[in-house]
Amino acid sequence: MSQTKPVYASFRSIGAYVPEKILSNADLEKMVDTTDEWIVKRTGIKERRIAAEDEHTSDMGTKAAELAIRRSEIAKEEIDLVICATVTPDYFNMPSTACIISNKLGISNVQAFDISAACSGFVYLLSVAKAFIESGMKKNVLVIGAEKFSSIVDYTDRSTCILFGDGAGAAIISATDKKEEGFIDLHASADGAYADFLVTPAPGAIYPVSQKVIDEGLNFVQMKGNETFKLAVKTLTKDVKEILQKNNINSEDIPHFIPHQANYRIIKAVGDALKMREDQVVLTVGKYGNTSAASIPMALNDIYESGRLQTGELMLLDTFGGGLTWASALLPFAGKAINK
Ligand code: UT7
Repeated sequence: MSQTKPVYASFRSIGAYVPEKILSNADLEKMVDTTDEWIVKRTGIKERRIAAEDEHTSDMGTKAAELAIRRSEIAKEEIDLVICATVTPDYFNMPSTACIISNKLGISNVQAFDISAACSGFVYLLSVAKAFIESGMKKNVLVIGAEKFSSIVDYTDRSTCILFGDGAGAAIISATDKKEEGFIDLHASADGAYADFLVTPAPGAIYPVSQKVIDEGLNFVQMKGNETFKLAVKTLTKDVKEILQKNNINSEDIPHFIPHQANYRIIKAVGDALKMREDQVVLTVGKYGNTSAASIPMALNDIYESGRLQTGELMLLDTFGGGLTWASALLPFAGKAINK
């Protein structure tokens, strides 16, 4: 009797795109009642990037994807699934940003769709790619986290406008028969009981575009910051402890811990609770702010481009966001490293 060989999902490459324009804390001091000192102390953020007016989520996603494809050494014709995580799609209803990106990349006749999991989007994408690959349905999946968060931020609201930025990150996830190259574990979850912690009320079926939406600013992100902060620390810590324990791995043996880049204080609290050394924790929040679904792949791209991420090294991803959603993943980098 013939037996099918097991197939594993492997992380082949990473790419990112960072818009040129910088919005500094000094710029924000001129826009709202805040100070550089307050922002740095409470969030660790010094600046964030803002896309140009005519630069859309799909443009940033396409640029990140082009890099990831080139670095994967896989021809774009071999890609058989394109998925994009975003809460700032080019169009809120249709078509999906994944379809637009596929077209811009010259990839046609492959399945393409978006997912909505806010800041957890990228790790959610990895779970989808893993399921498609390990079931044998797909071989090379292009995953993209892209956000033009500035399009839903109210730049008169000091409690949110200091946090968010724009950008994109992408990766190629491929089938392999080498178990050591495959994802070790991935956990993704959600609790809609906290749906009102992070909301963009409009446009949607509840609030289609109307004068009320414009008058009340319902098209902007609303956040219960402090409540979200406390739950983020608790959930992220618990999630990482569980995935490490389940796989018999000690936190000090993880070379790269890549948490969602929402707030330095959240990252520090989680890192301390896990007894992580500073050199293990990847930090980009200071220069990019919170880029939602793009945050983890942008951070990964940073350590890749600096030569810190080596082939075979373990990556621990941990994220938390609107929904509420959260997810963690433990996987080796199965791509070619940059040698510096
Ligand atoms: O990515 C998805 C998940 N999102 C997050 O994880 C975000 C989590 N939340 C946070 O990062 C933090 O809660 C914030 C940075 C948003 C706020 O920091 P906080 O330490 O939780 O402050 P707070 O909301 O409790 O506000 C403390 C004070 C308030 O003033 P009073 O009431 O004490 O007089 C705020 O009005 O700070 C005030 N405040 C500000 N002051 C100067 C709020 N925003 C600002 C500001 N500049 N930008």
